[in-house]
Amino acid sequence: MSEIKKYAVMGNPVSHSLSPQIHQFFGEQCGIRLEYRAILVETGRFKSAVRQFIDEAGNGLNITVPFKQEAWQLADLRSNRAELAGAANTLMFEENGNIFGDNTDGVGILRDITNNLGRPVADAKVLVIGAGGAVRGVLGPLLDDGPSLIHIVNRTASKARELETVFGEFGPCTSGGLDDIGDAPYDIIINGTAASLQGKIPDLPASIFTDQSLAYDMMYGREQTPFLVWAGENGSGLCSDGLGMLVEQAAESFYIWHGVRPETKPVIQALR
Ligand code: ATR
Repeated sequence: MSEIKKYAVMGNPVSHSLSPQIHQFFGEQCGIRLEYRAILVETGRFKSAVRQFIDEAGNGLNITVPFKQEAWQLADLRSNRAELAGAANTLMFEENGNIFGDNTDGVGILRDITNNLGRPVADAKVLVIGAGGAVRGVLGPLLDDGPSLIHIVNRTASKARELETVFGEFGPCTSGGLDDIGDAPYDIIINGTAASLQGKIPDLPASIFTDQSLAYDMMYGREQTPFLVWAGENGSGLCSDGLGMLVEQAAESFYIWHGVRPETKPVIQALR
């Protein structure tokens, strides 16, 4: 019987992570035996934790908050999408000792929105709220799908402008502060801020929603996020949290490690 391969997710906090469960589901579905743990890493200890995992014959890692930028720095080789994101959520340890870094968050949200929720990003008018690491990680793949516009707004407008400067060459992007939205509605409204973590919603006009729009929160939790409650109350036709994105980014990491694409829908259903 083949040797069991070793994987883990590193983060802080990490005990709430659903990644171990998701990868076990995928492994069973694809007939691949694997071990997948959650490893809590103290601040300042990321590099040594990765080295230790490699020494223990680990095969690959997922990286979550707050270490995605450090993981990017640690990688010897990076995919184009990771390069642009400035962050890596997936590491693979190659036999020659190289560390390969990738970022699967962007394809994760794209597949969730287009395949699972049935809303095309191509030709859509998209509003992205937030300009931190989470948003930077997803803009490239979203622009690759050909939206008519991505308008990036952030509480600190200068950070949204920086993202417009970086990503503008890949597709139609504009940017501004939370008050630079106007009255016109959007097809897809993505909340990529950390406001939900504080139980808050970004200060936005309700006119961004219609009965045809998708309101998407990159966060997920047991309860509906405050942003989605507000979007639903203000007439957004469809509201979704980021659980599907989580499963889809995991599926892409699984593909990078094992060369097999697992089915995501049964896993999303099981987790719901
Ligand atoms: P992450 O890696 O999760 O993106 P981050 O890089 O710290 O974390 O970015 C957090 C994002 O949430 C930022 O866009 C932040 O806005 P600022 O750049 O103005 O700080 C946004 N954010 C956090 N709390 C918010 C709130 N209460 N209302 C609106 N935006 C908020």
